[in-house]
Amino acid sequence: MRVAVLGNGGREHALRWALARTATVVAADADADLYVIGPEQPLVDGAADRLRAQGKVVFGPGAEGARLEGSKGWMKEVLAAAGVPTAAHGTFTMPDDAVAFLRSLPGGYVVKTDYLAAGKGVLVTDDRAEAEADVRAKVAHGAVVIEERMTGPELSVLAVCNGKDFVLLPPARDHKRVGDGDTGPNTGGMGAFSPVPGIDALLDAVGEMIGATLAELQRRGIDYRGVLYAGLMLTPDGPRMLEYNVRLGDPEAQVVLPRITSDVAELFRAAAAGDPLPVLEVTGDAAVTVVLAAEGYPVDPRKGDVIEGVEEAADVDGVLVFEAGVAHDDTGRLRTNGGRVLNVTAVAETLAEARDRAYEAVQHISWPGMHYRKDIATQ
Ligand code: AMP
Ligand code: GLY
Repeated sequence: MRVAVLGNGGREHALRWALARTATVVAADADADLYVIGPEQPLVDGAADRLRAQGKVVFGPGAEGARLEGSKGWMKEVLAAAGVPTAAHGTFTMPDDAVAFLRSLPGGYVVKTDYLAAGKGVLVTDDRAEAEADVRAKVAHGAVVIEERMTGPELSVLAVCNGKDFVLLPPARDHKRVGDGDTGPNTGGMGAFSPVPGIDALLDAVGEMIGATLAELQRRGIDYRGVLYAGLMLTPDGPRMLEYNVRLGDPEAQVVLPRITSDVAELFRAAAAGDPLPVLEVTGDAAVTVVLAAEGYPVDPRKGDVIEGVEEAADVDGVLVFEAGVAHDDTGRLRTNGGRVLNVTAVAETLAEARDRAYEAVQHISWPGMHYRKDIATQ
């Protein structure tokens, strides 16, 4: 099987690595047997529809299904229709209406954009003045979604869907804040681990939420083939859906894919073709990934710094180094070329061992201004 992967981040590097175990991974413009679309933006823009119109077999939802990620307002509407529990919320285009709704909430505010904002569109705060100022800034560019603030640990559950059925990939947890102890601004994700201890009893309920959502999409005539990523908060009242994404998580993919021992290319092909999904096989080993970020990330990452030590890091037992925001210059050196630069993933028998290996490998890598969290997979 010849597979083309669209996209160039750490998630896509992990995808190419996983697919290459059983398939030939080719350039995006080749006449491939299967097209896998990595990032959300092309999905929201209809890239899967355009390829399908050319008769290609595509893993990734069309633009209609991708609205689950492209419009939080629409996502909430689908959740309500499917009976999936989520935060109390409202969608607004008028700032005064939005502010009135904020004032009606018991305390603890979340302000989101109803348009794609590359993981940076969410403010979570207990300060109403800050929330009101954020509403007025965001509503200038489009609708905003306001939510009650919920509490609890988060969980990422990714489902591979063939339009009607799904299989759950091994659950993962990512770390969204830039700083140790969950401090500082939200990012796309600073690290991830899988498995997640203590959540197995919740997976039936999560599967029911995903099944109900897929059925609601079908009812609306949407043939959803690709990954449905459930971002959950495990509140004291039970799991609540924070959001759906329409692609693999980044950096969740970097810990989920290495744990799958069955044929990932065949799984994605079956989903893309609408065929019955093969049984998933997963290793009992654990995986941990640490994101190495550039100076200034997530606000204003600096590009062009020379990266040292990647080969030495990759030599550590059980370690994979995925390139996320890297450029190879004319002299063969690696340079930073994005906010999240490298993902150092380790697979080992236990989470503690995988974490130790990942951080051992990180010690080999350096560039000016490199930063990363020291507490990945400790909570
Ligand atoms: P989202 O893009 O909707 O997943 O939001 C990004 C992050 O903001 C989530 O991973 C949570 O950490 C946080 N968040 C979003 N919505 C809520 C909420 N209603 N209550 C508390 N935290 C939230
Ligand atoms: N790690 C969060 C995301 O991929 O959206």
